[in-house]
Parts: sequence; structure tokens; C-alpha cells
Amino acid sequence: MAYNGLIEKYGSFLNLPKHTKTISLLEGNTPLIPAPNLAKYFGLKFELFIKYEGLNPTGSFKDRGMTAAVSEAAGRESHTVICASTGNTAASAAAYAARANIKSIVLIPQGKVATGKLAGAIAYGAQVVQIDGSFDDALTMVVDISNKHPICLVNSINPYRIEGQKTSAFEICDTLGNAPDVLCIPVGNAGNITSYWAGFQQYHQAKGTQLPVILGVQAEGAAPLVLGHPVEKPETIATAIRIGKPARGEQALEAADQSGGNITAVSDDEILHMQKQLAGLEGIWVEPASVAGLAGLYKQTKNGTFDPSGKTIVAVCTGHGMKDPDIITRGFGHPQVISPNIAALEKVIL
Ligand code: F0G
Repeated sequence: MAYNGLIEKYGSFLNLPKHTKTISLLEGNTPLIPAPNLAKYFGLKFELFIKYEGLNPTGSFKDRGMTAAVSEAAGRESHTVICASTGNTAASAAAYAARANIKSIVLIPQGKVATGKLAGAIAYGAQVVQIDGSFDDALTMVVDISNKHPICLVNSINPYRIEGQKTSAFEICDTLGNAPDVLCIPVGNAGNITSYWAGFQQYHQAKGTQLPVILGVQAEGAAPLVLGHPVEKPETIATAIRIGKPARGEQALEAADQSGGNITAVSDDEILHMQKQLAGLEGIWVEPASVAGLAGLYKQTKNGTFDPSGKTIVAVCTGHGMKDPDIITRGFGHPQVISPNIAALEKVIL
């Protein structure tokens, strides 16, 4: 049967209003890739899978929620959507709005959005506005303006974003025949962890699948849920999750707690280390924020706070490496240049 996107495939599990008019880029249906080399690197015996969300149409998991949010907006003939974004939401909102013939406006923190994301938002035709402030400032602004004017907010405060993003949990269960024992996932504004937990709970009730333990992971410089208070000036190289006041923070803590998991933090070095291991050992290149979940799993495994032995673990990798090429090329410098002859080539490779 042809694949027609998430709303067609999982619509009966999604709480979307009748007026919803499907706008789809055939998002979702992303691979659950076994990662045996990386599991071996951890030094313990367990089954590890990567849910590679970077393979969505705009290169991140945001497309799952955006097909739902923009379809709802299109169905009630909304003319404009708006969001605050660290980049991926912006690109996704812009693409779906373009397809729906709706105007999109995206607010981003000045100078803190990776090249591939900004380029996407521009290419898809969004009006891009930089804020001399943080993501958190931008989010406050879009909430206020959408309360004042008939502009549809498509950040994950929008309940339909959560509905759409539940589908990744459904896909994982459908592929494995059950939920995994453990799910590790990066946490920024906390919409995604909220969605996965809602999705796993729904499948548990409808199909009897087990409930996974959820390990949510923030970056150390932007870890309000670990510290227990907002972070005024969040800072991390994982710019996607450079967020100090997560909109769904309470729900993220609840999800981790109810599932028997936790929310922890990893350093930028730990994030970059895991990005390199995942690319080098498995051929899966994801943007820095994407590996926070895996980096957190590795850290807890190494310091003995978590034993993955014998378990089936899914690591959600949220965005493609090509979103943020600079993080790699910056450290690499320029590849060496040689004369155009075999002798010169032999000299450098043998
Ligand atoms: N990973 C990536 C690649 C992201 O872009 C985000 C969030 C997250 C993880 C965290 O997900 O916010 O649901 O907890 N990016 C948002 C954006 C904030 O604007 O693109 P979350």
C-alpha cells in the first residue's frame, strides 16, 4: 500500500478536529536502525536502535508535529502561522506553510541558528525575524502576538504538534512489535518527550504494548529541568536545545518520573564525542542536539547509574547532521591539497 504520510496512516490515533485538511510531505516512516557497533563501544551487551528522525522531509522530527498543526490551521483557513525556533521548527513550519499556501513567520535567536536550518526557513519562503535575545524571549513574543492577532501559533504549545509527534512512538512499537525497554531522547522545549510518553501510553492502552523507561537528556549549559529552575542565559553548542524555560517542562518531568526514568544533563564535549562515535561507528551523522539522548545513556552506563544489559534501547536522533555542518568543518580545517598525480596520492594515503 502506498505511504501517504502520518495523518493518513495514524489519523485514528490522533486527536485532530474534523475541519483538519491534510497537508503532508509524506513525513514519518523513518528507519529504526540497529547500532551494534555503538552498543559494543558501550562495553555491555544490549540491543541498540537509532530512530533516525533526520530523515524526515525537512531533516528533523518537527515534521511529524507540523503536518498536524498546519493541517489543522489550513482546515480553518488560517492565513498565517508563527513560531519561535532554534531552527528546526522554523524550517518545518515554513515548508508545511508553503505547501498549504499559508504565510509563515519565524522568530529566531540572533546568530544562534545553524546554517542548514536558517537556509531551509529562507528557502521555503518564511519571513525570518532575528531577536536580539534568546529562544525563550522569542517564544514569549509569539505567544503574546498570537493571542492578540489572528495568527496561528505552531510551537509545541499547540496541542496538535503533540498529536503528530506521538506517531514516532507508534512507529517504534509497530517495528519492534512492542515498545522498547528504554527510550533515550534529547530535551529542549520538552514537546517531544511529552509526545513520546503520550504515544507510548496510548499504544499501551490500545494494544497492550509495554511502557518504556524514558531517559531525557539536556545540555549542561541549558538544563533547567535538571537544576530545578529556569536558566536565564542558556548556552550550549547544541543550539537546537539552547533553551532555559521549556514550555512543557512539567510534562517532561512527569513523563520521566512516571516511566521510572529521569532527566539528566551532558556536557558539550560529551555531546560532540557521541556525535563522532555515532557517525564513525555506524555511518549515522546527526546534529549535536540529536545525540544528547545517546550521550546521556553513555554517561549513565559509564558511571554505573544505569545498566543497559539485556535491554532493548531506542535512541531518538532528532535532526540530520547536515543541519549544522559548521560544527564539523570548524574543527577539521581544510582537507590537504596535493598535486594531481598518483605519486602524490600514494605519498599521502599509503
Ligand atoms: N533535537 C533537535 C534537533 C531539535 O531541534 C529540538 C528542538 C530538540 C531536539 C528538542 O525537542 O524541544 O521538543 O524538547 N528544537 C526546537 C526548534 C526548539 O525550535 O527547532 P523539544
